[in-house]
Amino acid sequence: MQPLHDPRYAASLRLSVAPMMDWTDSHCRVFHRVLAPGARLYTEMVHANAVIHGDRRRLLGFDASEHPLALQLGGSEPALLAQAARIAADWGYDEVNLNCGCPSDRVQAGRFGACLMREPELVGECVAAMVAAVDIPVTVKCRLGVDEDNDYATFAAFVDRQVRAGAAMIVVHARNAWLKGLSPKENREIPPLRYDWAHRLKRERPALPVVLNGGLATVEAAQAQMVHVDGVMLGRAAYHDPYVLHALEAAQTGMPLRSREDLLEQLRPYVEAQLQRGLALKHIARHLLGLYHGQPGGRGFRKVLSEGAHRPGADWSLLEQAVQVTREQAERAAAS
Ligand SMILES: Cc1cc2nc3c(=O)[nH]c(=O)nc-3n(C[C@H](O)[C@H](O)[C@H](O)COP(=O)(O)O)c2cc1C
Repeated sequence: MQPLHDPRYAASLRLSVAPMMDWTDSHCRVFHRVLAPGARLYTEMVHANAVIHGDRRRLLGFDASEHPLALQLGGSEPALLAQAARIAADWGYDEVNLNCGCPSDRVQAGRFGACLMREPELVGECVAAMVAAVDIPVTVKCRLGVDEDNDYATFAAFVDRQVRAGAAMIVVHARNAWLKGLSPKENREIPPLRYDWAHRLKRERPALPVVLNGGLATVEAAQAQMVHVDGVMLGRAAYHDPYVLHALEAAQTGMPLRSREDLLEQLRPYVEAQLQRGLALKHIARHLLGLYHGQPGGRGFRKVLSEGAHRPGADWSLLEQAVQVTREQAERAAAS
């Protein structure tokens, strides 16, 4: 059965964490998995050429706990993307996602990412080639358009082309990408969000699984979208304030909320195993800095970790120390 027509597949899309270069590496994803046991996780974008010719263990390796896990690919050559998708499927990924949203100069120069919004036919050929190569869902993450584009019909035609090619789901980062004059960071903030385009897409194509992304920072904001689409994808909020991910998973599934300390403790065996294999704590600790975001004593947690994690020999006791400092600062704040 094609995932497009499988209600269980649509139901599995309720929550995901966005692909984020330099952020959503394997350590980060293991942490996110602890916070949200059922969420769909995405890798950083990896170019098809790198998958084919690069160090696969480093680029594609993941921990068994990370499922369901999608590999996000960059590229615009159907044969290369098909080959990379096959490699991803062989490695055990649960989905391959094609990036049609990245606006960076480097990516534009390589003719992939957001500029592909203007090449629906080529993207359709890429998707079709990947679909033919693998049995796992092939999905597309896109914007609403590029630069001054402001035509819903053009956006919908882009999506329809990918669905005809076999795309099982569309992630809509619900704003345009401006290819000239804005940095990638500004491109995540300045072009206005238009959730209504994603809503309309879903309303007019009820069988198409649609995931909404962009600017969702609270449980309430994310949950409000679930009336309109199949799922929400959180990017920066999940990274900077990861407890939101846990709270959203709890709100969606009814699982009880766990304390931050409890969640950290669940990560402990992974951290200790990695340290034993020679990894420096800083590579994991950098993803944990936001765990106490907005909490009394939260600054203390961040400070202890960011100052201590890069020191040689830093180990789990630093996490315990960070929690202790956080607790003491919170108690002092409560008493004053
Ligand atoms: C540091 C960073 C790196 C990103 N890298 C990617 C990427 O590799 N592929 C991609 O499709 N989007 C990438 N994005 C965009 C996010 O996936 C997401 O679409 C965007 O941040 C909007 O969602 P948010 O408002 O929830 O953060 C990146 C975003 C950030 C902040």
